[in-house]
Amino acid sequence: MQLKVLALPGDGIGTEVTAEGIRVLRHVAKKFKHDLVLTEGLLGGIAIHKTGSPYPAETERLALEADATVMGAFGLPEFDNAPPAMRPEKGLLGIRKTLGVYANLRPVKAYDALIDSSPLKNHLLKGVDMIIVRELTGGLYYGTPRGITGVGDEERGTNTMTYTRMEIARITRMAFHLARKRRKKVTSVDKSNVLETSQLWRKVVLEIAPEFPDVQLDHLLVDNAAMQLVLKPSQFDILVMENMFGDILSDEGSVITGSIGMLPSASIGAQLPSGAWVGLYEPVHGSAPDIAGKGIANPLALIMSGVMMLRHLHEDTAADKIKNAYNAVLE
Ligand code: IPM
Ligand code: MG
Repeated sequence: MQLKVLALPGDGIGTEVTAEGIRVLRHVAKKFKHDLVLTEGLLGGIAIHKTGSPYPAETERLALEADATVMGAFGLPEFDNAPPAMRPEKGLLGIRKTLGVYANLRPVKAYDALIDSSPLKNHLLKGVDMIIVRELTGGLYYGTPRGITGVGDEERGTNTMTYTRMEIARITRMAFHLARKRRKKVTSVDKSNVLETSQLWRKVVLEIAPEFPDVQLDHLLVDNAAMQLVLKPSQFDILVMENMFGDILSDEGSVITGSIGMLPSASIGAQLPSGAWVGLYEPVHGSAPDIAGKGIANPLALIMSGVMMLRHLHEDTAADKIKNAYNAVLE
């Protein structure tokens, strides 16, 4: 069969880890006699340099044509003082939003081989195996009004956290469906003691739960969730939360496993009019400009993002092969 994959290496270590991931995919494609058609596109800082835009229209076109898109990392220090609309990260947020991939799955799993690299005591890592399901196309990242207005003491920065019932319901159903294939436990994270968006979030989650009577549901406030993640991470199976909470807690989750360089992710949920599913596969880590170009970046998160891609394309045998090699490398 033919697999059309778009690679968007991006900035910093993004190019290095993407190159390694592509080597692995090419090798597996050859082994399984798949016709891997690989295209490379521009997104992020490199796209600003070459086209003036962090998310060129051509990149969107290529992503819509591909069976899947593998992405590296985005962000460069030279843009640190640029306004949000002119930053490399805008490219990443743009492609997530226009493709409509509202569900970002971030699996956090402890491996014996890395147990001593974790900042947590060894015994806490036993049985750690969760997926952080992060809502990806709503909330503070996209809400309006936003911006900086006024001058002097009245200069004001504004962002808006907003969610509709539809946005909460679809990510909740995604979380419950995933839980059904695992330990059948969903923990919904919110801040319903303070935020109206969180009150609606909890209400909608509670309304949907009876559709999945075989799955156990509980709720945690986000501050408590941050604490529970280091206190007893093995208690979690599926965690579901809004965009920014998911951004923050997934960095915390990643380092529990020993290195932020270990966490892959899959951004899914969107279907094209043709019926095809759209998927973006990217590591959770950033562009790490401080170590870029030194050949020391850990490519495993990207390689495992490739494994998540193969599973979503129902190429489980190929995915298993890479997974076995990955385990051997870690050992
Ligand atoms: C992530 C990253 C991005 C995000 C940045 C680079 C915009 O931190 O994927 O977690 O905040 O979503
Ligand atoms: Mg992040």
